[in-house]
Amino acid sequence: MRIDIITVLPELMRSPFEGSIMKRAIEKGLVEVHFHNLRDYAYDKRRSIDDYQFGGGAGMVMMIQPIDECITKLKSERDYDEIIYMTPDGETLNQPMANKMSLYENIIILCGHYKGVDQRVRDLHITKEISIGDYVLSGGEIGAIVFCDALIRLIPGVLSDETSALTDSFQDNLLSPPIYTRPAEYKGMKVPDVLLSGHFANIEKWREEKAYEHTKNRRPDLLEE
Ligand code: ADE
Repeated sequence: MRIDIITVLPELMRSPFEGSIMKRAIEKGLVEVHFHNLRDYAYDKRRSIDDYQFGGGAGMVMMIQPIDECITKLKSERDYDEIIYMTPDGETLNQPMANKMSLYENIIILCGHYKGVDQRVRDLHITKEISIGDYVLSGGEIGAIVFCDALIRLIPGVLSDETSALTDSFQDNLLSPPIYTRPAEYKGMKVPDVLLSGHFANIEKWREEKAYEHTKNRRPDLLEE
């Protein structure tokens, strides 16, 4: 997968891609991430990328010209499955969306700032708008990092068998069951016997029951879907 990220803060965004699972995915050649600094497409003395809102109102608006030039250039070089704008009024990211988009080959992610982008950018180029939750961040960058992490770990070959994404919370609309490691007893707190029994079928049954119970207590909405 190739991910092109358009941002005014490329430096802020680099470090998550230089560590963790995302770094491994890049090193394995399964993912390429390219940052595009919007200011490289702004040609006035101050390299402005924003301006006042027509009609008045607080907050600056990101101008269409630098964004249009950057996206047009990228689109002339390859086809994109989706051109995504990170915005709090987008579709709220969830696991089924991440599963689907992890199969894409090329995506662009546009990170908004200030009040957001000129509506004409959205009308002209954006094919999908994504929010990472019902709260407002100061820019789309951190949302884009969250989104990339959710996608990249699902790309076949990124995770090893032990860390398989198939058993994650949300993969079957259930939260994960409790997990334990050694020691089997700590300060009188014991690991459930069934997990030490070696009886695979019983262990699976126990995990399913616990996952269901946990979901019912904490996220009953998931069971209704
Ligand atoms: N930009 C600002 N707030 C955001 C959010 N909640 N999700 C995605 N991008 C954003």
